[in-house]
Amino acid sequence: MAIRTIREMGDTVLNKVCKEVKEVTPRTRELIADMLETMYEANGVGLAAPQVGVLKRIVVIDCTGEDPIVMINPRILETSGEQTGQEGCLSVPGKSGVVTRPNYVKAVAYNENMEQFTIEGTELLARAICHELDHLEGHLYVEKVEGDLENVGEAEEDWEEEE
Ligand code: NI
Repeated sequence: MAIRTIREMGDTVLNKVCKEVKEVTPRTRELIADMLETMYEANGVGLAAPQVGVLKRIVVIDCTGEDPIVMINPRILETSGEQTGQEGCLSVPGKSGVVTRPNYVKAVAYNENMEQFTIEGTELLARAICHELDHLEGHLYVEKVEGDLENVGEAEEDWEEEE
């Protein structure tokens, strides 16, 4: 396993549509293991393959810190409701912004053994699924931000000055 370089906004690899995975090879497994390690090292809750420069339809998500979800060729089947809240992305470091997403998502995907499974999520998991699947279409959350991108680092500085 290895930590891979996270591509940042401005890198054109983040604007491309990813390709379907036809079979899980040892190389695919290595990619998935590296994506998980890279996501945890960066304290992220999700990572899509294009963020490490690989144009394949693979995402990893872990909203709880202990239960990673690996989704290969994921597809959203159903959404409902709405949630509006802060979102960030490892490819847009130090920033966050307000995005409205469905509050419930049902998706279908394949696991590392190419077995199909469905997953349902609400709130943060629903948001993460939508965010990561957007990456596979070459889209970043900044395209959907309501208002301005906020500087996460700046907020911390303000807080420090108050002490
Ligand atoms: Ni992202």
